[in-house]
Amino acid sequence: MITSTSNLALRRKIAKFSNTDASDWYLCLKARYGMAAVYKAVFDIYGSSDVMTTPYTCITSVNPILVSYLKPIYADIAPTTLSITDAEKHLTKRTRAIVVQHTLGIINPEIKTIAKLCKEKNILLVEDSAHCLGRMALTSKQSPIADISIHSFGVEKVLQNTKFGGAIYVNPALKKKDPKLYEKIVDHLLNLKEAPKSLDLKIRAYRGENAVLQRIPNRMQNGFRNFLLKTKTYEPAVTPMEQNASQLPSYAITEFAADVALKHIGTLSENYRRRTENVKIYQKYLKNAKDFHIVSTSDDPMLAFPIVFEDTRRATDAYLALASSGFFIRRWYSPLLYPGPNDNRKYEYNPKMAPVSEAMHPRVLCLPTNLTTAQTKKIITILQPVQNTVQNF
Ligand SMILES: Cc1ncc(COP(=O)(O)O)c(C=O)c1O
Repeated sequence: MITSTSNLALRRKIAKFSNTDASDWYLCLKARYGMAAVYKAVFDIYGSSDVMTTPYTCITSVNPILVSYLKPIYADIAPTTLSITDAEKHLTKRTRAIVVQHTLGIINPEIKTIAKLCKEKNILLVEDSAHCLGRMALTSKQSPIADISIHSFGVEKVLQNTKFGGAIYVNPALKKKDPKLYEKIVDHLLNLKEAPKSLDLKIRAYRGENAVLQRIPNRMQNGFRNFLLKTKTYEPAVTPMEQNASQLPSYAITEFAADVALKHIGTLSENYRRRTENVKIYQKYLKNAKDFHIVSTSDDPMLAFPIVFEDTRRATDAYLALASSGFFIRRWYSPLLYPGPNDNRKYEYNPKMAPVSEAMHPRVLCLPTNLTTAQTKKIITILQPVQNTVQNF
């Protein structure tokens, strides 16, 4: 393992935040690389197996399964969490891991039932906390439920100023549950490769390149982006090879990425405080909305606040109204396996597998939660002009 001073300090900070032990955390350059290291260990110990997930996710969370010679199998999502439901129904004899993604940071309460199932059948429980850095589902004794917990400092995650970095928590309880698998996972995570200089340079250049991309006129953005990609000087959030069921080898975090993450991790509590406040405002003012409904009544500090419209047209109209007022609204995860595979077959995915995900993804808008109170209220007024002028906040 590459153990710069920042690496150790960063593990200590994330451990302190999550009330865990720094020695159970491992850093990687992107969370997807840590995920691949974990799944490779599953393959090494158990051979070809199935990993249960949902299509309501980023393609970068499924590629690690494929590059580890495992097969993704798909459960559907619950409309109130946008996260896995009815996992038991989809269990196969070959299921060796189940992924519970806390979509937009809404902690999926079904993880408790899934944990029981995983314990009974000796299945690895992987919690995807990429949207809720440092937050995990806990047992009644306040210890982490999952065997593995995945965290990300990546683009469009909780911390806005860190663009790279992943942190993987390996629950020490796994040592007892499945000692061989535990050893193999730790071994892979400790032996992640050092990133090549060319990738390190792209990572250092990313912020500057993105600043230029955001400042130049829209019509020039694609051309400039393509130029950067062609000259291999830009590392996008999802690379073209990643829409084709592949990814780079698993790299450890670089000194630069660890330094940046360390610089910003101290803002996490304030970041979550702001998000909690905005979630409360959305909950209060949007609960009786006419054209859409709120996905979750949870008070979690969500990465974004999801609302669901009756049909795609209304969702798109609202999206355009907000965008024309300068708000950047995400449509996580539309298309499914975001931003969409070149070929569904490579992902072993068939739309019939997940009717709720299929029906919901084009109708969901994810409202930002990192804004000021005034900006949040402006969004509410745009979405519900009549109702909210009367309420007058
Ligand atoms: C749910 C989820 N899991 C995992 C990842 C991968 O994170 P990273 O970008 O750090 O590889 C993403 C990335 O977008 C994600 O949305």
